[in-house]
Amino acid sequence: MEIEIEKLVFGGFGIGRIDGKVVFVKGGIPGERLQVRVIRDRGSYVEAEVEKVVRPSSQRIEPQCFVFGKCGGCQWQHVGYKAQLEAKEYILREALERIGGLKDIEVESIFPSPSQYGYRQRVTLSVWFQKNRYCVGYLEEGSRKGIEIETCPIATEPINRAIKRLSRSLSSIETRRYPLEKVYISSDGVDSYITLVPGSNRDLSSLYSLRNHLRKSNETKNTYILGEREGEFELYILGLRFRAIPSVFIQVNSMVNEQLVRTVMDLATPYRNKRVLDLFSGIGNFSLHLARQSREVFGVDVSAKAIRLARKNAKLNSIENAVFEVSDAGEFVKKAARDRIRFDLIVLDPPREGAKEILEYIPKLHAQGIIYVSCNPTTLARDLKMLLHLGYRTIRVYPFDMFPQTYHIESLALLSRI
Ligand SMILES: C[S@@+](CC[C@H](N)C(=O)[O-])C[C@H]1O[C@@H](n2cnc3c(N)ncnc32)[C@H](O)[C@@H]1O
Repeated sequence: MEIEIEKLVFGGFGIGRIDGKVVFVKGGIPGERLQVRVIRDRGSYVEAEVEKVVRPSSQRIEPQCFVFGKCGGCQWQHVGYKAQLEAKEYILREALERIGGLKDIEVESIFPSPSQYGYRQRVTLSVWFQKNRYCVGYLEEGSRKGIEIETCPIATEPINRAIKRLSRSLSSIETRRYPLEKVYISSDGVDSYITLVPGSNRDLSSLYSLRNHLRKSNETKNTYILGEREGEFELYILGLRFRAIPSVFIQVNSMVNEQLVRTVMDLATPYRNKRVLDLFSGIGNFSLHLARQSREVFGVDVSAKAIRLARKNAKLNSIENAVFEVSDAGEFVKKAARDRIRFDLIVLDPPREGAKEILEYIPKLHAQGIIYVSCNPTTLARDLKMLLHLGYRTIRVYPFDMFPQTYHIESLALLSRI
């Protein structure tokens, strides 16, 4: 059957209609006429795949990756960059309106990524044993099936050199000897840093010999095993030095992250010399920059490894007014509210599930402003709606293209107490 694609939606699908029923088409671009095949009828909507492009969009381009369409990492390599950006702005606006009920909100133009490929400075690869050899790759979209890769065009060069070496080394092993499940690889722009993650069989002794073998090659010389002290690498973010490790979160796109941090600092200017709470602080990406312009910053993260690095990073930059605590954000906010601790500005950057559980305690901290950084417009819209009921109005939203070639959207919302 044939269908006209109307728009791209969160999740990466193009959608159209057949007999009034919404059809989600993997690989469709707005304005295209496609011949599609239904894969699943979900009752209120249908999922379909492209059989033939009858009338292509002028925005249809050749994907750079040979596993594009199978691998779950990228959804939009076949869409021109301008159309990707337009779709992300539209999806964000639509989520704010439909889920958040925020109709007249000001949404800035999306900040584009200076690099559309080769930007990812952190990847997580799966490892599995199949047909008498180890394979390295990503998981297929929506399944546990592995897609083998030797390179990943959206990752940086040092990461690609490491993936190539790793996949060659592992594929030459003919017996299932190593309890290896995942691999984290990060890069500082020059070298890569690898952390091997063991599977359920936690006998690590055999992994040490693999680690030692990998360390002999230049591309994989910085290989460690999760649980031992991992290899630290150094990054510069807007002139500050940061130590990081592969198993701890860092923003994946360094150039877009710098713009994100710059925006957080600009919006925090009215809170100069005030007390700032940075919830979900990680290694101090926002906290340490904010400390340079605030009286005091309090960073909170559930990861003890992230907080150890945040404290180290404060010392490295001679920052003395940033304090960090290992805690669940919800527990921290509840306790702070009970102890009547006040902050002037709260920055929060939760994982994609959002921060629903902690929002009701936020007003008890009496902050005048909130800067909410999010990688998921759906949970952001839900949380902004809840914050409005709790007395915080969204002033403006700023989208950033942290993840080109994918449907993921990073955005920042500035809120003020009503
Ligand atoms: C999106 S990252 C943001 C990190 C940091 N703001 C940055 O820009 O690098 C989310 C962070 O939330 C932390 N996290 C996840 N669940 C948490 C929880 N329940 N309480 C506190 N921190 C949590 C993770 O360890 C991670 O560092």
